[in-house]
Amino acid sequence: MTQTSQKDRVVIFDTTLRDGEQSPGATMSHLEKLEIAQLLDEMGVDIIEAGFPIASEGDFKAVSEIAQRSKNSMICGLARANYGDIDRCWDAVKHAEKPRIHTFIGTSPLHRAIPNLDMDQMAVRIHETVTHARNLCEDVQWSPMDATRTELDYLFRVVEIAIKAGARTINIPDTVGYTAPMESADLIRMLIEKVPGADDVIFATHCHNDLGMATANSLAAVAGGARQIECTINGLGERAGNTALEEVVMAMKVRGDIIPYYTDIDTTKLMNISHRVATVSGFAVQFNKAIVGKNAFAHESGIHQDGMLKNSETFEIMRPEDVGLAATNLVMGKHSGRAALRSKLEDLGFSLADNQLKDVFVRFKELADRKKEVFDEDLIALMRASEDVENNRLALQSLTVICGTDGPQKADITMVIDGEKVTASAAGDGPVDATFNAVKALHPHNARLQLYQVQAVTEGTDAQATVSVRMEEDGNIATGESADTDTVVASAKAYINALNRLLVRGERTGEGLRQISYKDIS
Ligand code: KIV
Ligand code: ZN
Repeated sequence: MTQTSQKDRVVIFDTTLRDGEQSPGATMSHLEKLEIAQLLDEMGVDIIEAGFPIASEGDFKAVSEIAQRSKNSMICGLARANYGDIDRCWDAVKHAEKPRIHTFIGTSPLHRAIPNLDMDQMAVRIHETVTHARNLCEDVQWSPMDATRTELDYLFRVVEIAIKAGARTINIPDTVGYTAPMESADLIRMLIEKVPGADDVIFATHCHNDLGMATANSLAAVAGGARQIECTINGLGERAGNTALEEVVMAMKVRGDIIPYYTDIDTTKLMNISHRVATVSGFAVQFNKAIVGKNAFAHESGIHQDGMLKNSETFEIMRPEDVGLAATNLVMGKHSGRAALRSKLEDLGFSLADNQLKDVFVRFKELADRKKEVFDEDLIALMRASEDVENNRLALQSLTVICGTDGPQKADITMVIDGEKVTASAAGDGPVDATFNAVKALHPHNARLQLYQVQAVTEGTDAQATVSVRMEEDGNIATGESADTDTVVASAKAYINALNRLLVRGERTGEGLRQISYKDIS
């Protein structure tokens, strides 16, 4: 018997495109959603929660297109506890080979107060809506939102109703990240023991990371009997995020001796999807993030390096290759050719068509002229900076900034806006302020800069700087990112990138995006 066959399988339910994308500022474009769904499908995710179809035309379109394209994964859509939501959800997922409707209602005292339903009225609503969903779709998942703050007796009662109405999966959300590992395990154990019919369904765990315990709580729930983990790539999600897929999957893989479960995830694809989600969501991965952080496999201290050279297991509990990190950080330079660049980018998870490679090669040569050694991180930054270029309405053409100790600093900028070349000059309190003022002179806007962050991609004074900005305008939030060996140029490009995204968001808000609320269930 293989080791795997002695273990229980845990189903991986990814909600990057629903709970993750819902995070303020993380909105993805239609094509970005399709791309992430394809990567999830190829990676072996069992169920993809592709969106919330009633939320907007855009969400509906994304879920239905993902449903039609998915090759292996089951495709799920979210619906509140009303017939309109459930019908719309079914319309979006019904073309999938394996469709699922996920319907939910908040069952804790605080959440029951929102639709103003008493316990009995809510019980009726649950019976009706799960039955309705089940009449449309064979596979129905039901969630009592804020389950971990719901009275135990009431939770048992409503879970039994949902099972009797035909739900096949009962998801137990820790909506506000309030539970702790022992409680998480006990809750699932009690539900399985006490609720009639519990043996016929799968229990799922859905944790948020407000207290930094989402991974531990999810694994504890599995120890308690849950067999589905709901999670997102990079732990993307509202507030402190959701359970990180890469963390639970690698924990089961690396510590199979004491966490005896397995998944069908191809872990060598983790790094690539992590980069893609970071890029399209605009949420950079923190350097010391477990599994996919830039420093997760870096060993800088002298003692560590010495130990690693003798035996990599001295300080490494998993191999970089297991998570899709190229084993060597082969340095590229200005003499590297197009074939070498293509092969290097493929190792890093980017596959490019010939015309794309041509464009990236030009940028790579420009970078290599300015920077002696081009590391993996530089190439990833370069690829991320090349995003969105084709559809952008605003683009930087040239920038000259005059700096000095006796300010104010002055920026002369040339941009291409909707195909037209325009020029402006502006002063400011520092080179970045002057540059942003010059952009604003050419493209007046009311966006407020919420975050401005600079990070060196590698070491040395010729290192590229990655600049991230987050901007807010009329309730829409967009992040922009860029990299350049010149910090002010990177700042200008990141700022323009965020403005481009805000233009797209503004257009999408017109169709009603995010105007719907979980609170509005009737
Ligand atoms: O956190 C939560 O409760 C949710 C539900 C909609 C399942 O995301
Ligand atoms: Zn959630």
